[in-house]
This record gives sequence, structure tokens and C-alpha cells, in this order.
Amino acid sequence: MIGVTMKRFKKTSNDQLVSSNRESSVVLKISESKWGLNPMTLMAFFVVCLMVLTLVFSVAIVFGNLPPDCLWTLAEARFFHVKPSEATVSEDDIPRPVIMPKDKLLGGLLPSGFDETSCLSRYESLLYIKGLRHKPSSYLISRLRRYEALHKQCGPYTELYNRTVDLIKSGDQYSTSSSVCNYVIWVSFSGLGNRILTLTSAFLYALLTNRVLLVDPRVNLPDLFCEPFPQVSWLLPSDFPILDQFSTFNQKSPLSYGYMVRNNKSRIHPFMYLHLNHDYDGQDKLFFCDTDQTFLKKIPWLFVKSNNYYVPALFLIPSFEQELNNLFPEKGTVFHFLGRYLFHPTNSVWGLITRYYQAYLANADEKIGIQIRVFDLGVGNFKYVLDQILACTAKENLLPRVNPNEPIVNSSGKTKTISILMTSLSPRYFEEIRNMYWENPTVTGEIVSVYQPSHEEHQQTEKLMHDRKAWAEMYLLSLTDKLVTSAWSTFGYVAQGLGGLKPWILYKFENGTVHNPPCFRDMSLEPCYHSPPNYDCKKKTGSYNTGNVVPHVRHCKDMSWGLKLFDQNGEL
Ligand SMILES: *[C@@H]1O[C@H](CO)[C@@H](O)[C@H](O)[C@H]1NC(C)=O
Ligand SMILES: *[C@@H]1O[C@H](CO)[C@@H](O)[C@H](O)[C@H]1NC(C)=O
Ligand SMILES: *[C@@H]1O[C@H](CO)[C@@H](O)[C@H](O)[C@H]1NC(C)=O
Ligand SMILES: *[C@@H]1O[C@H](CO)[C@@H](O)[C@H](O)[C@H]1NC(C)=O
Ligand SMILES: [Mg+2]
Repeated sequence: MIGVTMKRFKKTSNDQLVSSNRESSVVLKISESKWGLNPMTLMAFFVVCLMVLTLVFSVAIVFGNLPPDCLWTLAEARFFHVKPSEATVSEDDIPRPVIMPKDKLLGGLLPSGFDETSCLSRYESLLYIKGLRHKPSSYLISRLRRYEALHKQCGPYTELYNRTVDLIKSGDQYSTSSSVCNYVIWVSFSGLGNRILTLTSAFLYALLTNRVLLVDPRVNLPDLFCEPFPQVSWLLPSDFPILDQFSTFNQKSPLSYGYMVRNNKSRIHPFMYLHLNHDYDGQDKLFFCDTDQTFLKKIPWLFVKSNNYYVPALFLIPSFEQELNNLFPEKGTVFHFLGRYLFHPTNSVWGLITRYYQAYLANADEKIGIQIRVFDLGVGNFKYVLDQILACTAKENLLPRVNPNEPIVNSSGKTKTISILMTSLSPRYFEEIRNMYWENPTVTGEIVSVYQPSHEEHQQTEKLMHDRKAWAEMYLLSLTDKLVTSAWSTFGYVAQGLGGLKPWILYKFENGTVHNPPCFRDMSLEPCYHSPPNYDCKKKTGSYNTGNVVPHVRHCKDMSWGLKLFDQNGEL
């Protein structure tokens, strides 16, 4: 691998890239590091390498030898295919480097064989994420390939799918049959961050139970995410017989598992509804017990609705333990790997991400993400929230302090640049912090720029452009070097998990106070399960501390009753 470090390329009026410091700006060295490049630097790299080669070649002609390193560089450079720039640059005209096959599959995590242009992010993401920060187990990789084969065999409109759909008509006359596929149907519910977390949970459940995951077609999922599995769609067809019942599924539905248990009615039926929302009760939570899982094996169609990341509770089910150990030797990587595997922004969202990144983040020496989510606080709390953010970034040395007393800074030497990417429903925090760094110099001389892509004032569940921007913002946050997030926010969890970043989490904002300390460093990449079960399946008693059962599932620091996965050595 070749690590390339390049600084400060400027765009001239005729759109050519030139180095502002021709002598010393290029450092080529052989190393084991992953590509830390974006398309702009790649193009610049290509241009500069040609310049260097021309020079080297002239020197070689004079002195009669060529340095081997640069020849290798030339060989590597063939992989970058650079389109000429045009006056109007559309998404498709951004120079698109061709990446070597081994890397673009994220070390084997992603399957090959997709049409690349229909989903540019799938293979281009590597240029922005600098490779996966952790390595998936070979067992996980082989298990994903096996899942893809099953999905292809059982996906929409296959013979086996048609046959399993036909079973729905048999109702209570249904008797278990082995010649069909089994499915878990993800029923859409709640905001985009929650939906990403529940899709991941449903997929892991499908892996563990040899089911096929199909997703609710009633929402805008296809506008946000590319198809994750090759060849066969993951969307439940819109002619699925009981699609019209999805919106009425709740705890009182006669075919909800909890209802059935509450009423002592053990029915074998071709489908069953599982209510795993935060408001679920003791009987719904039996889902997380082994005996109930044994029963559910007989049901070909399981419909699951949730607004929670219920993965940690799957780690408490003894019959899944061995398989989970094999899949995830490092327990804290579940969302990181499954999220990277499942969620690829569609081209329209990828355009939002890459344009923003190139315009505001790519050239900064350091990128800091700050995600602010304030729950149920009156406007009078603005100052407290702002003070908590600033106290956190100062205390943890994440942002430079400003010096209002010394308005002139020395401009000699190289100035470090920091880009802050803020996301919030309100523009006020962004405006305050941007003005602070405009009106005052930093004590240590860095230049800090502050950006916020959108401010939608309130969360709008399931509106298309809102969701596209929300998805783009989560993804952009995942591309930063350091991340500050808000307690309880699934938006922040998605960003930290995808990015493989341990964030600094701001304690939940409280009326009229700045929490002291203002924030803490999270010890795990994993999202927190906000409403975990508290039932002891063996002793059949409630009020059980599920945070004490296995060492890698413990309580979350941002929500004391929540549960999350940790690595035992905490070394991730
Ligand atoms: C499954 O059923 C659909 C119609 O519902 C049909 O178009 C399709 O050909 C069937 N698939 C197979 C493999 O028979
Ligand atoms: C279910 O059965 C249990 C014991 O078998 C009984 O105590 C309970 O009242 C029954 N519930 C209903 C709704 O029939
Ligand atoms: C904080 O104050 C607002 C309005 O003053 C109120 O609506 C909200 O319920 C309060 N939140 C808490 C957690 O006390
Ligand atoms: C600016 O330069 C002066 C003299 O060159 C030096 O004394 C001072 O410490 C410098 N200030 C900063 C913030 O680097
Ligand atoms: Mg925890």
C-alpha cells in the first residue's frame, strides 16, 4: 500500500489542480496504511505524480537509473481513472477513482457483483472512511455469503417465496412444513436513526435464526438505501397479502405473540406479530427467552415492530451465544460491521454527502463532528445547552479556546485548520460557535470554520427530503476525526457506529443546569438499547438486572437503565 500525504491544493480558474507548494508538498511513502484519500486529492495525486515522474524521467535519462518506489507508484496510479472536468460538474462528473477490488469490498465484508453505477457509495465509501477501523471475522464474512445465497433462494417472487406466501391463506389450519423459507419482516416505525438501528437488529436476528429479512415497502427506504443483497430485493412486494394490516399491528392484535401468551392461547399460525417497541410488556418481552424462541421457530412469517436497538438482548439468549461469539469475537463491533454491510446511501444521498464533504470538510487538517439533540427543553435553556457544549469541548481539548483579549495572531508559519460539522434541529448553537471563532482568535492560532448542513426546527418522521438530509448528516458525522454527540440520540449512535468512533457524549441536558462533568468519553462504539427486558427467563421473575448477566452486556452511561455491548478488554 502507498500512503500519500498532500496538503493544500487550490483550484485555479480553468479548473486545473496545482500545488501551492510545489517543492515540499508531496510525500510518497510505502506503508501498510489504508487509503486516506478523497477523489480531489486522488486527482491531485495523479497530476503531481505525473509531474514528479516527468522530472524523475529526465533525471533518469541523465543519470541512467530510476528509483523503484516511483515506478511502483506509476503502476498503482493506473488504477485511478480521471475524467476531464467540465464547466458544469454533476454528481457523475466528479473524478471517480477506481479502487483495487480487495479494498473496495471492505476486506470481504461486502459482496461483489453489484452494478457499481447504480449505487456509487457502495464501493466509493472507502475513499472517505479510510477503510474499516476493525477487521470482520472470517466467520462473519462466510455467514454473510451464506445469508446472501439464502436470500437469493427465498427472496420476493422466488418459487419458495410464492409457496410460503400461499401458507398465509391456510390460517389456523396451518401445520408446520419444512419445504418453505422462514422470514422476518421489518415493519417500519419511528424516526430514521431508530429505523437504522431496528433494521440492523432485525438483520442480526435473521442471521441467527436462518430467516430471510424483508423490509416494509410502505416507507421511503429505497430512496435512502441501496439494495444490500445482490440480485434479489430486500423489499417486501407491495402485493403481499396482509400488507394493509401492518399499520394496525399492536400489542392487542390477536396474532401478536404477547397477546397470545397473555390469553393462554397457544396458536400455530403462519404468521405472528412481535411487539418490541419501548412500551412492550412482560409477555411481549418473552421474545428474549429461549423457550419462546423455540416456539417461534415454527412460524414462517414473523413481523417485528420496534423503535429500539435490541441487539444487546439477543446476546442474553443462551442458544445464540456460541454463534454470536463466532460472528463477533469483538462484541463492540456488531453495529459497525452490520451497518457498513447494510446501509449504502443511494446516489441522490451520496451526492449530498460528497458535495458537502468536498466543499467544507475535505481540506481541513482536523474534522470535528458535534451533534446536538435536545429533548423536551424550553427555549430558555439555550444558554445552558451552549455552555455545556463549550465546557465539554474545552475540558476534553477537542476545540481550541479563544482569546478575546489579543485580537491579532501571528500569521507566520503554517496555520492548522479545523472544520466543525454541526448537526441540530436548531441553527442557534451553530451561529454562536461560528461567531465565537469569527470574532475572536484562538489562543493557539488554529483557524476554525463551523458548518451546519440543515436546521429543520423539528423532527419530521418519514418525509423524503428530510430523511435524505438526516441520513447524509449522520454519514457526514461518521467521517469526522472526533465526534461529540448528545445522550439518548439514535442519530449520534448511528454516526459513531458507522464511523467506528468512540464519541464524547454530552450528558442529557437538564432544565436550568450545566451537567458537571459536561460529557464523558464513551467506552464502546455500540448504540444503547433504551428499553431492554428485565425478565429472568430461567427463574421466571421480573425486575432482573440484565446488565449483570454476561460481562459484555452492561448498562449505558448516557441512560442508566439501558443496555449495550462492550468489549471485555475495552481496547477497540
Ligand atoms: C411467483 O408469483 C408471481 C405472481 O404472484 C409470479 O409472477 C412469479 O412468476 C412466481 N414465481 C415463480 C418462480 O413461479
Ligand atoms: C392463563 O393461565 C394462568 C395459569 O394457567 C391463569 O392464572 C390465568 O388467569 C390465565 N389467563 C387467562 C387470560 O385466561
Ligand atoms: C423543562 O422545561 C420545559 C418548559 O419550561 C418543560 O416543558 C419541560 O417539561 C421541562 N423538562 C424537564 C425534564 O423538566
Ligand atoms: C507572536 O509572536 C511574538 C513575537 O514574534 C511572540 O512573542 C508571541 O508569543 C507570538 N504569539 C503567539 C500566539 O504565537
Ligand atoms: Mg452500557
